[in-house]
Amino acid sequence: MVDINYEYIDEYIDDLYINKNEKLLAIRNMAEENHIPIIEKATEDFLKFIISIKDPKNILELGTAVGYSAIVMAEAAKNINLINTVDKNENMLKMAKENIDKFSLNQIINLNYMDAYDYLVSDENKYDLIFIDAAKGQYQKYFDEAINLLNDDGIIICDNVLFKGMVANNDLLKRRKRTIVKRLREFIVNIKNDDRYLSSIVPIGDGLMLVRRNNA
Ligand SMILES: C[S@@+](CC[C@H](N)C(=O)[O-])C[C@H]1O[C@@H](n2cnc3c(N)ncnc32)[C@H](O)[C@@H]1O
Repeated sequence: MVDINYEYIDEYIDDLYINKNEKLLAIRNMAEENHIPIIEKATEDFLKFIISIKDPKNILELGTAVGYSAIVMAEAAKNINLINTVDKNENMLKMAKENIDKFSLNQIINLNYMDAYDYLVSDENKYDLIFIDAAKGQYQKYFDEAINLLNDDGIIICDNVLFKGMVANNDLLKRRKRTIVKRLREFIVNIKNDDRYLSSIVPIGDGLMLVRRNNA
């Protein structure tokens, strides 16, 4: 539970989550047992829904962890060519590789061992969907580069923008998270005030922000 919604709402939505894919469920369970942060169940359903509408061919993900969300997206996207996913943690990427092999998705999901920002400034691909789920304090920096890699009608989805409710409520704010929360708040306000973008905050999971170009 992440203090975004009333607990009973989160519990209700989580109880409705159905995952018939035992291999995926095993990765979710392993991540939860080892305190490896992966997308919330409601976020998973939402991502799958957006992907079913958008039908992205190329996806960029910042923050691979053990490859869970990359696998979810690869399985949901019917016409996917490539998912580039980036993480600076080598151990995570080793686990991600094992997981991706189990799904025979190594031709689709490309693992990049790099700092997310360094990756963004070096990449020359264009993407239909960019999923930002790496260092929360860096979202503005990520966004400013990611937008250059986004196709005209592409979507950027940022996870954790409400960060356990702390972004919306000072009473929840933990001292050591103050800088991250300040940066997330600034990022959200900047996007909301920028006429170039259409955006929406969706208060499920840990809070998602969807952004696309205005009039795209
Ligand atoms: C929340 S986890 C990603 C979860 C994954 N998207 C999923 O749902 O399965 C965040 C990941 O971002 C990575 N990360 C944090 N800061 C980073 C940075 N500056 N560059 C690249 N990766 C970073 C961490 O190592 C961690 O694995």
